[in-house]
Amino acid sequence: MRIAMIGTGYVGLVTGACFSEFGVDVCCVDKDAGKIQRLKAGEIPIFEPGLDQLVEGNVKAGRLSFTTDLREGMAGADAVFIAVGTPSRRGDGHADLSYVYAAAREIADTMDGYTVVVTKSTVPVGTGREVEAIIRERRPDARFDVCSNPEFLREGAAINDFMRPDRVVIGCESERAQEVMRGLYRPLYLIETPIVFTSLETSEMIKYAANTFLATKITFINEIADLCEKVGADVHDVARGIGLDGRIGRKFLHPGPGYGGSCFPKDTLALVKTAQDYGAPLRIIETVVDVNDRRKQAMADRIVAACGGSVAGKTVAVLGLTFKPNTDDMRDSPALDIVPALLAAGATVRAYDPEGMDEAAKLMDGIEYGQSAYEAMDGADAVAIVTEWNEFRALDLARMKKLLKAPVVVDLRNVYDPKDMRAAGFEYTCVGRGTDRPARAASEAAQ
Ligand code: UDX
Repeated sequence: MRIAMIGTGYVGLVTGACFSEFGVDVCCVDKDAGKIQRLKAGEIPIFEPGLDQLVEGNVKAGRLSFTTDLREGMAGADAVFIAVGTPSRRGDGHADLSYVYAAAREIADTMDGYTVVVTKSTVPVGTGREVEAIIRERRPDARFDVCSNPEFLREGAAINDFMRPDRVVIGCESERAQEVMRGLYRPLYLIETPIVFTSLETSEMIKYAANTFLATKITFINEIADLCEKVGADVHDVARGIGLDGRIGRKFLHPGPGYGGSCFPKDTLALVKTAQDYGAPLRIIETVVDVNDRRKQAMADRIVAACGGSVAGKTVAVLGLTFKPNTDDMRDSPALDIVPALLAAGATVRAYDPEGMDEAAKLMDGIEYGQSAYEAMDGADAVAIVTEWNEFRALDLARMKKLLKAPVVVDLRNVYDPKDMRAAGFEYTCVGRGTDRPARAASEAAQ
């Protein structure tokens, strides 16, 4: 089988490389000639574990190629995937679909013979129908079907998520197109992955419902964490205690500085807007967006409080800048709010991140950088762990204590055990582990 993948961003590149690993002939198409040039030379523009070998192997095997020419990419293709960006539109938070619709027009002008047109990008409900209408209008004669096939890939684990997904969702109403999609995902049938066929609208809705549900789960545990601190409970035990109930599930109950990344913030906002447009507001998701936004400032306040109420003239070492570990992605990272808030409060911020510093330097001014976690904390008044990179889980505590001017650690990802940290002599603050504080009696609180 053969496919064209339009867009060599995160989703397009990972999906294209993974399909080629499934034995499909994949041609990745992008307008950015420089990017295609670099990909042809074997340079991978993003940091994703395992992607470079996957691309290299499949290019060598002749199953994966790159071009700027859509006609070349679509020649003889059974399906063409649209994996272009759908950023939040400035001003109103709606997803910007101009790239998707431009791709639809180009596909219409290029199409030759029966083709399945698949939307892979996250698109609001109704977009697949619109893509269909755009193509039909330009090419009334064309033989094609439009499918929605949302991605559920996590950055840092995307290849495994593609190869061994919990499920694949395909919004597709034609038998012929279903046949093509089944052929593309054939290896997943062998490992008995559930493949869910739905209507176009349902599939588009599944993607948003999944991401907003997960964002809600994180926001829920973050608020429970705040309450745990007040009442003297440990949020990790609470998460385990509720998560073992199969109806709740243990995943995505890790508290932290608020969700970030390229998907959750954008998708929660876009669904809120869609729901408002349809006159069916999603009040829970509206609140999730609001609570998550406020959380980032609250995390900066927590660092200031740990420094005795002021960071003016103090140096805070910030460990981790990316929105999560194993990526260089800074999009909507909590650090983008926390660091400027510290700077505005008069702190000097000395940051270290294993992969994110180049990107961070483009997005934020006024930060000093260390070349290691230890360099960042040398002489600092406090250290704040903002992203849970593995290398921050095993820091040499004695060395840390010697380097820091004051032994203040604010662990926004709960990578350390409060008992160990306090035993080692640190003034340690984390998230939601209030067990060593005396709980205020309910009767006392009521007074
Ligand atoms: C997410 C979805 O998981 C994926 O299915 C979708 O297609 C794209 O968006 P990703 O953005 O790569 O993937 O990251 P994910 O691992 O889901 O984390 C998102 C954010 O939530 C991160 O900022 C992370 O730190 C935070 N998070 C996640 C928590 O704070 N607690 C958790 O328990 C889990």
